[in-house]
Amino acid sequence: MMEDIQSKELTFRLSKCRATPNLYRAKCLSGSDNLVGYATFKLKESCVVLYKIWVKPKYREMHIGKTLLAIMEDFAKENRVFRVEGKFYPSTDGVRRFYEKCGYDVPNKEKSWENYDRDWTLSKDLRRATDLTTERTIER
Ligand SMILES: CC(C)(COP(=O)(O)OP(=O)(O)OC[C@H]1O[C@@H](n2cnc3c(N)ncnc32)[C@H](O)[C@@H]1OP(=O)(O)O)[C@@H](O)C(=O)NCCC(=O)NCCS
Repeated sequence: MMEDIQSKELTFRLSKCRATPNLYRAKCLSGSDNLVGYATFKLKESCVVLYKIWVKPKYREMHIGKTLLAIMEDFAKENRVFRVEGKFYPSTDGVRRFYEKCGYDVPNKEKSWENYDRDWTLSKDLRRATDLTTERTIER
């Protein structure tokens, strides 16, 4: 597994989900074609909605998650969409740190669940933010 990462045998791929309109998935596959991470998002007129991002535990903190977000953000901008939104599930401080490191505005106070839709939204303005860089080749 570590050899995969060290030898950069990771493939990043962006594909459209067939069943649902405007739903996309950025994937990271290991050399042996195993899924090691993905981000699922929907392209809307005014924003991209990030539904889920996940990286296999042993592959975490190796910039795979950041690269998946970079793929999503580049795709949004190519489509002239400059905002990302999502729900922030306050599972751990680590996830908060991840989003902050990637330039996202994350609710930082203790919020109640009463105003979940309003209070637990995560967002990023792609016009103002610095590009997340990815040195990876993206297959489409
Ligand atoms: C959140 C998640 C996708 C992050 O993926 P990842 O590949 O480990 O993240 P990256 O390596 O790209 O991290 C990017 C930056 O965030 C930081 N970061 C990531 N996870 C962190 C953690 N748990 N604690 C502190 N910092 C963290 C990294 O150190 C890195 O910082 P740097 O740019 O200064 O080097 C991954 O931990 C995960 O799958 N978690 C479970 C699923 C989940 O909670 N998803 C979010 C809600 S849908």
